Amino acid sequence: MKLVVLGGAGSQALYGIRDLLNHESIFDEIVISSRNIERNKKVVAELNSPKVSAAQVDVTDKDALYEVIKDCDVVANCTGPYHLFAYDIIDTTIKAGKHYIDFCDDIEAFNHIFESDLPKRAKEKGLSMIMGLGASPGFLSVLACSANERYFDSINEAIFYFATDEKEPGGPAVLGHMLECIHNAPYIEDGVKKNEPSFLREWDFDFGKPYGVRKVSRIGHPEVFTFPRYIPNIENVSVRFSLEPTSAYEGFKKIGLSGLTSEQELNIKGTPISPRDFALAVLVAQKSSRKEMSEEELKEFLKGVTACAAAEIHGKKDGQDRVYIGRVAGNMAPLTAVPLIIGAEMLGKGKVTKTGIMVPEEAIENADEFVKETIRRIRNDGFGFAVNEELTVIDEF
Ligand SMILES: NC(=O)c1ccc[n+]([C@@H]2O[C@H](COP(=O)([O-])OP(=O)(O)OC[C@H]3O[C@@H](n4cnc5c(N)ncnc54)[C@H](OP(=O)(O)O)[C@@H]3O)[C@@H](O)[C@H]2O)c1
Repeated sequence: MKLVVLGGAGSQALYGIRDLLNHESIFDEIVISSRNIERNKKVVAELNSPKVSAAQVDVTDKDALYEVIKDCDVVANCTGPYHLFAYDIIDTTIKAGKHYIDFCDDIEAFNHIFESDLPKRAKEKGLSMIMGLGASPGFLSVLACSANERYFDSINEAIFYFATDEKEPGGPAVLGHMLECIHNAPYIEDGVKKNEPSFLREWDFDFGKPYGVRKVSRIGHPEVFTFPRYIPNIENVSVRFSLEPTSAYEGFKKIGLSGLTSEQELNIKGTPISPRDFALAVLVAQKSSRKEMSEEELKEFLKGVTACAAAEIHGKKDGQDRVYIGRVAGNMAPLTAVPLIIGAEMLGKGKVTKTGIMVPEEAIENADEFVKETIRRIRNDGFGFAVNEELTVIDEF
């Protein structure tokens, strides 16, 4: 079976491809494709496996994209930003009649695609297409489904948290996306969809070891779209984030509160520039002025915990109020890419029985099995990964 990974040499995707090669997989042909063929060839040489090959494609060229995917079984889309690329990639994948998976973390892309005719067209062709099976949305969403099935009769609130080290591997797609996420942070409160920029409210949240208690603020993230597709009448959903070190969080807070995420162009010495373009240029320049970690330094860095996340659920069981918090500590890249690869293998094996475009909460029918398999695979790949569950039952006499 053949898997085409668009953006396969990207900072997240590569961890999934290494995972694929670490065990017996249904895929015996894996194509790493993106614009930079030289980098893809270098990655293929490093991976040193007869199963892997390199291809060149710019996903904005729909004809070229069609040619790359026309004889594969599953398309895994790891390019970003998703609000720019996902619609056309899914459109072309439907035309080619292929199953599809991505780790989209861009709420605008979900809104746009689910409001379009793409879900209907995917269903008509009998295709299974999963959007958002990464770390969060993705693993964390499925963990929340598994907790719901194990501990609750009904849920009225879900809060998703994440905190990542600013040194985590992440390509240029990530910084621009981050500015959008703090500009626009939708949430659901008392059954009403609301929207406000990040940092207007902050909470303290205990991520557990090693990050401990951190200030967190709302961030624009797709769980607010995806989770209500699983629990339609849920009253409260939000996503809250922090960064390691705290100074990085404070830096983004200053950017957010000083209006530098606005896309309204200003005339600066005769040149129209938006505050967001300016802020992004500064962030990219700062990032590129820092010395990049060598392969060895990156390996050493990833031996520690570099990302924490949590799902907090409030609801009832047998008439009693309950609160569940599932805390996760590990590294973002494997936690993003391994769920996508497991999902791609499920698509290849026909283990995703529903058709159409789905979010992870809809597509993964056995949430508990998926959670356990992800943990097993990430640990087998050599990364530290801990999940800690806490359940509080509130009894009133
Ligand atoms: N759900 C989650 O939990 C989660 C977690 C982390 C990241 N993400 C999302 O994942 C996406 C990728 O993140 P990343 O850190 O891996 O970014 P990255 O390192 O920049 O990787 C992006 C990949 O896409 C390729 N690409 C970009 N534009 C392309 C184009 N026009 N045609 C073909 N390929 C193109 C790039 O290769 P070339 O430059 O060679 O074209 C690269 O391989 C981001 O959108 C990020 O927001 C999701």
